[in-house]
Amino acid sequence: MSEYFTLTVNGHVHEIDAAGTTPLLDVLRNHLGLKGSRYGCGLEQCGACMVLVDGETVYSCSREAVTLEGRSILTVEGLGGPDTLHPLQQAFLDEQAGQCGYCLSGMLMAAKALLDRNPSPTRADIVEALDPNLCRCGSHPRILRAVARAAAVMRGEAGDGH
Ligand code: FES
Ligand code: FES
Repeated sequence: MSEYFTLTVNGHVHEIDAAGTTPLLDVLRNHLGLKGSRYGCGLEQCGACMVLVDGETVYSCSREAVTLEGRSILTVEGLGGPDTLHPLQQAFLDEQAGQCGYCLSGMLMAAKALLDRNPSPTRADIVEALDPNLCRCGSHPRILRAVARAAAVMRGEAGDGH
């Protein structure tokens, strides 16, 4: 049965008309046209769909959108755009951290949550934070370097990631 509710996504309030069981990922991609968050497994096992809700990572594939009314949702589109790249996005480019790119929006959001709570993560901290995010291309080493690089840049350091 259809329900009407509002969602705040990347700072904008949207009125949504969708079945109450509709996953957030479906609303983002198919109602709001935000295609950055990806469907991988649908089972909370890959992280391709990961977004932030009030700063915390959430699997949007399994979370019913209606439960997030009044919460602040951030997707990769809200992180930065082509002209306003977030330091994480710039570092992922600089380190050529992706191959197919399917995992990257989830990786970026998990990394943002980490750096927001810990501006100086160790490599072990980064590994732990990104553990829920799978990369089928095997780009993990470059992704880890990119997150370290972004952290350094955000601290005002050179940011060679090593
Ligand atoms: S699609 Fe959500 S965790 Fe894989
Ligand atoms: S770059 Fe292809 S899945 Fe990670």
